[in-house]
Amino acid sequence: MIKKAFSFFSLSAIAIAIVSLSGCYYDVEEDLYPDSQLPTACDTSNVRYAVEVKNVFDARCNSCHAGVNASAGIRLDNHADIKTYLDQTGSRLLSSIEQDGNASSMPQGQPKIPDCEINQVKIWIANGYPEN
Ligand code: HEC
Repeated sequence: MIKKAFSFFSLSAIAIAIVSLSGCYYDVEEDLYPDSQLPTACDTSNVRYAVEVKNVFDARCNSCHAGVNASAGIRLDNHADIKTYLDQTGSRLLSSIEQDGNASSMPQGQPKIPDCEINQVKIWIANGYPEN
């Protein structure tokens, strides 16, 4: 009788140990992959206006460059206005985000946006800035 109770206790202890260990295992996994919730690395293989380019302008520029009061009258919140601006000014927009000194550096007062986002905009412009 005593022996049976003891083995039941041992089994419970082992079960608890396994559960706690697997808990630790998941904790460690989260430490190893803290960015697993973030989007995957920036992709330049298929750059579309409606997805990648719009995301860049919305996230980095359109706090200032949207709507009727857009900074410098430059609207980057719709394809038609972006196309008009690019048709009229050539490489000015690219110079601004590459911060190469040939136009005001953008985003205004901030460091360069990530290289991959610059490349996405660059590739899209080189492709003739389609509304894709
Ligand atoms: C915090 C507000 C703000 C943000 C964010 C911002 N801009 Fe600007 N932008 C301005 C202002 C103000 C001007 C006009 C003054 C100047 O040229 O510096 C301007 C001017 C420009 C010009 C004209 C530069 C020239 O020399 O002719 C371009 C092109 C431009 N912005 C593109 C962008 C792009 C692309 C982004 C996002 C990557 C961006 N801006 C983000 C405020 C902003």
